[in-house]
Amino acid sequence: MLKETIQEALNAQLAREMYSSNLYLAMAGYFQSINLKGFAHWMRLQAQEETTHAMKFFDYLLDRGGLVQISTINAPPSNWENPLSAMEDALKHEQYVTQNINSLADLAIKEGDHATQIFLQWFVTEQVEEEATVSEIVEKLKMIGDWKGGLLMIDNELGKRTLNETSPNE
Ligand code: FEO
Repeated sequence: MLKETIQEALNAQLAREMYSSNLYLAMAGYFQSINLKGFAHWMRLQAQEETTHAMKFFDYLLDRGGLVQISTINAPPSNWENPLSAMEDALKHEQYVTQNINSLADLAIKEGDHATQIFLQWFVTEQVEEEATVSEIVEKLKMIGDWKGGLLMIDNELGKRTLNETSPNE
């Protein structure tokens, strides 16, 4: 049986993963609206990936005999000043998710919940990759500045993404 504190923390993370999915779907809409279809495609896949993250928490809660508690998910923003500010927001969000995964891992250690510690290892690895991937896009956008040709080159590159490209061991 799951301890109440762990159950609550897992449900809170489930909600954050659902918010992440909505945030990236909103970004997909923004990028498509400014005709950056490669960025939009990348964000659509990112939104799908976040749904699979949410479902991992959903399934794990049930596997441990816990209760799934779906809470209200706040609406994400729907517009950004430019591609760089959207990607910077994505990076800030991933850093926030990493902090939360780490706090959750700390709690599992404190509560002596070995199964939850092992379950969370996948997410610890995933967060390293997610931050690195988004950070690389942010740095490239900073590098090109106002050069439109460079933006189209990045757009073309992001359009080639396939699902699970940034996921470890899947
Ligand atoms: Fe599920 Fe991007 O963290």
